[in-house]
Parts: sequence; C-alpha cells; structure tokens
Amino acid sequence: MTRKVSIIGAGAVGATLAHRVLESGVADVVLLDVLKNIAEAKTLDLLDAAPVAGHEKNITGTDDYAQIRKSDIVVITAGLPRKPGMTRDELIAKNASIVKDVSEKVKKYAPDSIVIVVTNPLDTMTYLARKITGFKKEKVMGMAGVLDGSRFINLISQELKVPRSSIETYILGSHGDTMVPIISKTRVKGKPITEAIDKNKLEAMIKRTCDRGAEIVKLLGSGSAYYSPSAAVFKMIESILKDKKETLAASAYVEGEYGLSGLYIGVPCKIGSGGIEKIVEFDISGAESAALARSAEAIKALNKLL
Ligand code: APR
Repeated sequence: MTRKVSIIGAGAVGATLAHRVLESGVADVVLLDVLKNIAEAKTLDLLDAAPVAGHEKNITGTDDYAQIRKSDIVVITAGLPRKPGMTRDELIAKNASIVKDVSEKVKKYAPDSIVIVVTNPLDTMTYLARKITGFKKEKVMGMAGVLDGSRFINLISQELKVPRSSIETYILGSHGDTMVPIISKTRVKGKPITEAIDKNKLEAMIKRTCDRGAEIVKLLGSGSAYYSPSAAVFKMIESILKDKKETLAASAYVEGEYGLSGLYIGVPCKIGSGGIEKIVEFDISGAESAALARSAEAIKALNKLL
C-alpha cells in the first residue's frame, strides 16, 4: 500500500524533509505552500533527483489543499523562522494565524491523518493545531525532544570522544528556554552521565544545547536550522509508518502524566501507527519533576496569548 506524507510549508525544513521521505522510500509526498511557485520548483528539483537517487516515489508540489486528501501524516512546517536575537516565543502572533489557517484545511481535507507540528513556538502551535482540528489527542503531536536530544548527544560525544550511538538521553519540557534534560536518564555506554562529566561542565553543556538553535540562527543570518529538525521529524514519521512503537520525546497532550494537564509539552511517547500510543512515565528525580512543572507554567502562559 502506498503511504502518503503531506508537508505544509515548502521552506527549508519542509523541503529537506520531503527529500528525506522520498529517498528513504517510505511514502509519496505532497509539498504544499502558499507560494505555489516555490512548491512547484522544489518538486521539479526533487523529481529530477529521483532517477539518479534510484527511487520511484511520487511528489506533488501545489498550493491546493485538495491534494492532501488521504494523507497518512500531515507535517506542519508553515510559518516564519526566527531572526538573529529572537526567541521562538516571539514568533507567536504571526505563526498562530498561519497554523490556525493550515489546521482548518487539514481538518477539512485530511481528517484521518496524524499531524506532526514543527512550527514554533512548538508546544503552543501544537496545542493550537489540536484545538482547531479537533482531532483526538493521540493524532496530534509536536517535534522537539528528538532534536534537542540529538543536539545534547553531539555535545556529550564531542566532550567524551565516544560514539554518538553509545549515548542515550531524553529532553522533555518545552522546546524553549525551559527545556528539561533528564540527566537521570542520560547514559553513556549504559553508565550514568554524572559518572563521566562533572556538574559544572554538564550545566554548561545543557545551556549550549538550549541555545543551539539560536547559535545556528546567528551564524546563518537568515533562517534557522533545518537538517536536524527534518531528521527528527523523519524519525517520528518512520516510527508511525513502520509501527515501530519507539519511545521518543515528543510534544503531547498531557492529562495527569507527570502531574501535568491541559497543555502540550515534551514527554516520552510510544509512537506507532496510532500516533501517540502511550505517554511513558519515567521515574524522574524531584528536581527534574519541578523543572517540568516550571516549563509547563511557561508554556501555559504562552498558550494564554493565543
Ligand atoms: N500556508 C502554507 N505555507 C505557508 C503559509 C501558509 N499559510 N505561510 C507561510 N508558509 C510557508 C512559507 O511560504 C515558507 O515557504 O512556510 C514556509 C516556511 O519556510 P522557511 O521560511 O524556510 O522556514 P523553515 O526554516 O522551514 O521553518 C519553518 O519550523 O523550525 C520551525 O521556527 C521554524 O516556525 C518555523 C518553521
């Protein structure tokens, strides 16, 4: 059966994601943008890569939402990226009106899809997408934790000169200044990270992880990260389409888990063909739990601005 992934927003993240999905062979792709020419141009370019890359997948570039009908997954990347010096939260006014518009169309044309939101401020935009679509909470999620975790893994790997694959971590909470690295679940070759790196050094690395997006925005001058965000979304897509049921950090709607409720926030989720099949409740430390509660307050304050 041919699977279908529709990507709303054919910008840096959307087009890079389209590339990954097509060349992995997991699904056909619809790339939709308000700027029809951009969606069409990138589609022709991606199509022209297919004979060389050696795949038979289809891609459609369009501004017509009728094309997203029967999507298995819709990824929302439409919206503005940060400018140097901006926080993700400062994007709320512009991106809320875009995500609202997009979500109305997703509700109408792809009512059976699973939605993954990428647009920032992430947890608030995911909350908005769920509110507007009215989809079941399991079917709407946000991408952040996989990306933040990947950034942290790189810093640990560089510091300890160990392979990235030997490190596991979870970053929960908001995709913003109050993100919460779960140090008690961060292990290197199976051993607690605290045995390998001292507290001060670890704190500096956590700070750099939080600031990594801004570091890239500043260097780019225009636009924000896209290779790593698209890789993180792709991991979630694969877990859904292949029903891998991997436990990945994702922004999910909490109803009591971790003592939190009424918001979207980064938590460990078992992700499979049903979307978020379960929020996994790790045994975290008291300090981590308090940090999650603070992060939830920050997200709720932002949600109030919608
Ligand atoms: N409908 C469809 N597409 C839209 C709409 C809309 N209403 N409004 C804007 N877009 C499109 C733009 O035309 C642009 O092509 O969204 C695309 C965004 O692409 P970029 O500007 O390259 O931004 P990108 O780096 O892809 O980031 C997108 O993801 O990581 C987050 O903070 C980032 O919120 C930003 C989003």
